[in-house]
Amino acid sequence: MCGGCCRRQRGPDGAPVGGGGRRGCCGTVLAVVALAAAAAVAFLESTAGGVSYAGEGWMHECAKWDAEGGRFLASTFFGAGVAEVRTGGEEAAEERVVLADPDAAGRVALGFAVDAPRRRLLLVYSDRMPRYGYAALGAYELGSWRRLFLTRLDVPGESTFPDDVAADEDGNAYVTDAMRNKIWKVSPDGTLLGIIKNATFTQRQGMVHNFVGLNGIMYHPNGYLLVVHTSGGDLFKVDPKTETVHVVKVQGSLKRGDGLELLSTTRLVVAGTPSRLVESSDDWETATVTGQYVGPIHRIGSSATVKDGDVYINHIFGFGLGKKKTHVLAKAVFSPLAAAR
Ligand SMILES: *[C@@H]1O[C@H](CO)[C@@H](O)[C@H](O)[C@H]1NC(C)=O
Repeated sequence: MCGGCCRRQRGPDGAPVGGGGRRGCCGTVLAVVALAAAAAVAFLESTAGGVSYAGEGWMHECAKWDAEGGRFLASTFFGAGVAEVRTGGEEAAEERVVLADPDAAGRVALGFAVDAPRRRLLLVYSDRMPRYGYAALGAYELGSWRRLFLTRLDVPGESTFPDDVAADEDGNAYVTDAMRNKIWKVSPDGTLLGIIKNATFTQRQGMVHNFVGLNGIMYHPNGYLLVVHTSGGDLFKVDPKTETVHVVKVQGSLKRGDGLELLSTTRLVVAGTPSRLVESSDDWETATVTGQYVGPIHRIGSSATVKDGDVYINHIFGFGLGKKKTHVLAKAVFSPLAAAR
């Protein structure tokens, strides 16, 4: 009804006209709509067992559980850093910024990996959109947050969009380029070792199928990388030593798949809208989407992490009217998919 009420305040050309006699009506209706929207949001967000926390900034791309530190860590997008979230039972938590590297100020912090054996965090930095020039990987000690290295990955004059990172058992890091469908390989001490490129990464030609390319990446303990191509929904198995690339034959759709996390050697979580559970019984030659979890879709699920055997989905967008926004790590309960039964 607000439309009809408000429209009367506009002239025939659509421009607002004076005499706000109906402003009260409109304001009331808007307030009711806002309340209804808030109620809908509250309903959508009744994610039992999840974590909600207050933090500065609208956007958090990635969150991971740091088991040794007993905390979640989240990348703070425009803050170009990392915040920790400690949850004490049911009460709402608040983030605390633990890392803001001055040399990355003005950039964007995206995917990261907790390299637990080396007690460090690997963090991907990109340019502020719509610029796509800068790409870097930073490594920081998990306790002191001392920087170990900050390595530039981009080539002058070439656009790029670094997105996510995984570490192998030796501490080599693999960073995806969602714009150019390639993977940078960085040594444990921060030396750029090379780039894994393969035509297989581009299963379909054209911008519409490659708007967001190689994105979420995970190192499997059997010695290979699993990488998802977001726009195409393709899952790849990459041998980092031989640089051979195979398409995992997936039954079910992984379109819009974003961050990855292994729940076990045979079960992979693909965060996104929706988030999906994928299982393989042949070492990731083939796989089946066996479950999905929708969660608060207006917040956009973007990364997954596992804490005590439970999956938590990070969402990009925080909401709230004050300076602090409320962010949600939703505990994912996957509904079985009919096709997989
Ligand atoms: C790409 O991967 C295929 C296997 O899918 C392999 O045969 C080929 O050598 C790779 N190409 C490059 C340039 O590494």
